[in-house]
Amino acid sequence: MKKIVICAAAAAFVSITCLTGMSLAGDKGPADITINPDGKKPVVFPHAKHQEHIKCAECHHTKGPDGKQAPYTEGMEIQKCETCHTGDMLKGQVKGKTAMQRAGHGNCLSCHKEEAKNDPAKKDLKKCSTCHPKK
Ligand code: HEC
Ligand code: HEC
Ligand code: HEC
Ligand code: HEC
Repeated sequence: MKKIVICAAAAAFVSITCLTGMSLAGDKGPADITINPDGKKPVVFPHAKHQEHIKCAECHHTKGPDGKQAPYTEGMEIQKCETCHTGDMLKGQVKGKTAMQRAGHGNCLSCHKEEAKNDPAKKDLKKCSTCHPKK
């Protein structure tokens, strides 16, 4: 929310600054992302490479007024997973100790497992080290 306030204030002067570094329509985000770089198991994520074949909506969604998951819509503000995925989120639905692990494995790992199952040439996709490179 803070972002939006800053944006509105800045927009009055230079709307260009507003478009950089913000998750507005057309912003595809960073090409490569390291998720939880300081954690026990940092995750490498080639974001741009996934965008070539996979729709934004496969990974991004939002929260409706009822607090339930609402689908991605073109141009919506994209927030970090951990904005919502904290505490007990998805406990009992997806295995994992932390809310981020459940969000990450529920999204990334389940697709990678599916891909590995459907195409033997892609069996390495489900290996831990594909996403958590050995240090
Ligand atoms: C395979 C999954 C996946 C796909 C497909 C994908 N993204 Fe992402 N995107 C992510 C993840 C994971 C992050 C990092 C979120 C985090 O750090 O919590 C991210 C981050 C972003 C961010 C930066 C958000 C922030 O505040 O740091 C933007 C903007 C973004 N994505 C836009 C898009 C758009 C637009 C598309 C479609 C063209 C897309 N993404 C497709 C998974 C995906
Ligand atoms: C604006 C809030 C919000 C953000 C941001 C968000 N989520 Fe969610 N997500 C939810 C809600 C709400 C649910 C439904 C929770 C439930 O069913 O208990 C959910 C459900 C899920 C689920 C389980 C259902 C499914 O679709 O498979 C996964 C996995 C998931 N999110 C992963 C992610 C990932 C990965 C990111 C970041 C790329 C992310 N979420 C960003 C709110 C959010
Ligand atoms: C909907 C399916 C899907 C989701 C969700 C998904 N991936 Fe992938 N991922 C793929 C496929 C398919 C490939 C193989 C792409 C190729 O070979 O061109 C891949 C490849 C990769 C690779 C290896 C890239 C390389 O250079 O070989 C990494 C690392 C990776 N994904 C991490 C992640 C992470 C981390 C997430 C979650 C933030 C994620 N993926 C979500 C389908 C998915
Ligand atoms: C397709 C990508 C992918 C694969 C494959 C994968 N993970 Fe993850 N994992 C993630 C993401 C994304 C997160 C969430 C970011 C985080 O919590 O550090 C995560 C989080 C974790 C965490 C929590 C780390 C922390 O610091 O809290 C552990 C532990 C973990 N994974 C273990 C594993 C193990 C063991 C395997 C192999 C059986 C595995 N992962 C396979 C993507 C993957």
